[in-house]
Amino acid sequence: MKILVVGGAGYIGSHMVLALQEAGCHPVVLDNLSTGHRDAVRNSELIVGDQSDQALLERIFTTYTFSAVMHFASYIDVAESVLLPAKYYQNNVTNTFLFLEMMLKHRVQNFIFSSSAAVYGDVQQTPLNESHPRLPINPYGHSKKMVEDRLYDLAQSTGLRYAVLRYFNATSCDSLGRLRERHDPESHLIPLILQVAKGMRPYAAIYGDDYETVDGTCVRDYVHVIDLCEAHWLALQALQDGCDPIICNVGRGEGVSVKQVLASARRVTQHSIPVQLASRRAGDPAILVADIAYAKQRLGWRPRYLEIDQMIRHMWY
Ligand code: UFG
Repeated sequence: MKILVVGGAGYIGSHMVLALQEAGCHPVVLDNLSTGHRDAVRNSELIVGDQSDQALLERIFTTYTFSAVMHFASYIDVAESVLLPAKYYQNNVTNTFLFLEMMLKHRVQNFIFSSSAAVYGDVQQTPLNESHPRLPINPYGHSKKMVEDRLYDLAQSTGLRYAVLRYFNATSCDSLGRLRERHDPESHLIPLILQVAKGMRPYAAIYGDDYETVDGTCVRDYVHVIDLCEAHWLALQALQDGCDPIICNVGRGEGVSVKQVLASARRVTQHSIPVQLASRRAGDPAILVADIAYAKQRLGWRPRYLEIDQMIRHMWY
């Protein structure tokens, strides 16, 4: 089975490529390397180019016959999306729409899209299920919602079958150390904390300790990237069996506070990890935890990695 992985040189995409290889599939990666890494694509073909390059897509879709496309090619920094909204609407929306047209023109009809908890906006209930209103509060979240809506429309008018996976906080990496999380600049909590443990930064910042949570710090639902990939794999199989659209939260279904993450990192690394209290980060909800009942029921999916210590241990080398 040949799968086109758009954005397969990035953090989650490259883990998916590895998972597909291990399942006996043949992933082909399209990535413009704007944030991805050439060396993250191991033992698969990497085509360096942009998802908006129509001539390149013509060549790719006439050269290969794909069973499905998995799409990871988005900018993901919420704060940057507020400062540079055009960058997010151009790539995450316009270019993705162009890509979808070309994919459908070539009769590739199974599509798995990386969406985000950011589509929900201000949290009205926790844990959060898929029927929570989608009212994004930043351009990143809007860009994901716009693609979700486009997929719905295309499924009405074409033979498109699709899955939308709304990620919560993807974290960790391949347990054998073949791949890791590399963002530049880094903005995610756990990689930043581990940089402090390695002596690359003097301290970790805690963005606010006066939230209404267990210890005053923000609570998030950290899900192991390997579990995320497993959800993609199950969604792919469901699409191939010809099912209706799949729209699922993918989290672990449990919340962990910033201070709890720090305690875990101290246990795992045996470093003291100094911290400094900083002001709240704009747009951060206090608690963001997924209700994952639907993913369990619809995909038969279960997160295997349930301990934050284990997730951090895989990242510590
Ligand atoms: N945090 C700190 N200090 C830091 C970095 C983060 O205290 O130095 C806190 C944040 O305030 C937040 C938590 O740690 O409460 C996690 O922050 P991350 O930046 O690691 O992740 P986010 O929850 O902000 O972002 C994630 C995904 C985004 C997605 C978003 C949806 O990474 O792609 O959830 O809300 F859009």
